[in-house]
Amino acid sequence: MAKLAAARYFCSVCGASSASWAGRCPSCGEWGTMEKGATPGAEANRQVARCIVASEALPPSRVSSGFDDFDRVLGGGFVPGGVYLLGGQPGIGKSTLLLQTCGMMAEIVGPVLYLSGEESESQIALRAKRLGTRLDGLHLACTGDIVSALEALPGMRFLVVDSVQAMSVDGEGGWPGSPAQVRAVAQACISSAKERGIPAVLVGHITKEGRIAGPMLLEHMVDAVLTFSGEDYSPYRMLRAGKNRYGSTEELGVFEMTDSGLSPVRDVSGLYWNRASETVPGVAMTVAVEGSLPLIAEIQSLAAATAFPYPKRTGRGVDVNKIQLLSAVLEKRCGVGCSLFDMYVNVAGGLLLREPAADLALCAALASAVRDAPVPADCILLGEVGLAGEVRPVVRLERRLQEAARLGFKRAVVSSRERALRGAAPLAVTGVSTLKDALKAVMI
Ligand code: TYD
Ligand code: MG
Repeated sequence: MAKLAAARYFCSVCGASSASWAGRCPSCGEWGTMEKGATPGAEANRQVARCIVASEALPPSRVSSGFDDFDRVLGGGFVPGGVYLLGGQPGIGKSTLLLQTCGMMAEIVGPVLYLSGEESESQIALRAKRLGTRLDGLHLACTGDIVSALEALPGMRFLVVDSVQAMSVDGEGGWPGSPAQVRAVAQACISSAKERGIPAVLVGHITKEGRIAGPMLLEHMVDAVLTFSGEDYSPYRMLRAGKNRYGSTEELGVFEMTDSGLSPVRDVSGLYWNRASETVPGVAMTVAVEGSLPLIAEIQSLAAATAFPYPKRTGRGVDVNKIQLLSAVLEKRCGVGCSLFDMYVNVAGGLLLREPAADLALCAALASAVRDAPVPADCILLGEVGLAGEVRPVVRLERRLQEAARLGFKRAVVSSRERALRGAAPLAVTGVSTLKDALKAVMI
C-alpha cells in the first residue's frame, strides 16, 4: 500500500501512469506530457461516470434530430445529457448535417446553440439560407473561447461545437487542437451538457490515418462516436456509430449531398445496383445487410487466362483471401478451373462486403466468369460456403428475401437448411445443400 501512495507520473494525453518521469510517454509516445500527481482527467471522468450512472438508472426520453436516419443511428434520437463526437474528412458535410439538424431541433426542443470556431457568422448564415434552415431559435456564436461561449445561452436545449480542435480553454497550456486543449474543451462541453441535461455534438477532425485528431481519451470521454463518410466521386454520405452507449453500432444512415444540403436517401437498397438490362457472364447478385438496412449488392468478376504460375487474385469490395479460398473450393469441389485464370472481382458502387452471406454469390460470379455462362439476372444468391463445399444458412434471410422480391427479383438460391423454406416465401426459393447444386440451379 505504501508503494501505491508514492509519487506517480501521469500522461496528460492518454492518462497512462508510470513510477518514474520520462520525457516521452511510454504508452502514447507524446513528448513532454508526463506530469507528477493525480491523473489530470480523473476528476472530470469521475463526474462523467456519475452522470452516466444517473442517466442509465432512469431510461432517458429521446430527442429527435429531425432526420429519421440520424435518429436511427443514434438509437432512437439524442439522449438528454448525451455527448456525441462526430468525425469525418474535411468537406464531407459535418457542418452541413449539424446546421440542418440545429434548424430542425430549434423547432422541436427550443433554443439551440451552434458554436463555430472555424467559420464566420456571415458564412454560416449564408449556408443556413442555402439550406433553407429556419433561423428562429438558432443561436450562432463564432468564437474560439469555449468557456464564455457555453455561458452565452443559459436556456439552450441543444449544443453543437464545430469543432473541438478549433476551441480553447484559457489557462490550459498548448494551442487550440493540442491534446491538452482538446481534452479541456471536451471536458467543458461534457460538464455543460450533463449539468443542463441537454444533448451536445462535438465535431472532431480526422487525421491522415483516419482517427479522430486529439487524445485517444476523447473517444472514451464521450457517449457516442459517430462517423460521417463517403467517396469523393459520390454524392452519398454514410452516417455510422463506432461507439454508442445508447444504442446499436450496426445502424447506417444514408444521405445525399444536394445543392440545398443533405437529404435522406429513402431507397437505400438499390443504391449499389447498376440494374443492367443484359445478363453478362461473371455477374451475380446478393443482398447484404447493414444494420437493419438490406442492400442489393452486385458482384462482378472477370476471368482472364493467366500467364503466371501463380494466378492473380484481385478484389475491390471483397477480401482477396476470400477470393483465394472460394476459388480453391470451386476448383476442388465443383471442378471449376479457376487455377487457369487471373480473377478480378469488384463490388459495384464501392460497397464493402464483409458478411459470409455473400459467399454463394461470390462463388457464382467466379464460376460464371470462368465458364463464360451468365447467372440469370432475376436470381439472388444467399449463403455461406464452407471448405467442404457445403452451403450454410445466413442471418436475417426473411428480411433479405422480402427486399429482393420488392425490387423485382423472381428467384433465390439459399441453403436447404434454412428454416424460412418451410413457410411461404415472397419469391421462388431453391434450397441447395452444396455449392455444386447451387451452380446447377443457376445453370452454370
Ligand atoms: P461542410 O459541411 O462544410 O463539410 P465539413 O464540415 O465536413 O468540412 O460541407 C462542405 C461541402 O459540401 C462543400 O464541398 C460543398 C458541399 N455542399 C453542397 O454540395 N451542398 C450544400 O447545400 C452545402 C451547404 C454544401
Ligand atoms: Mg465544417
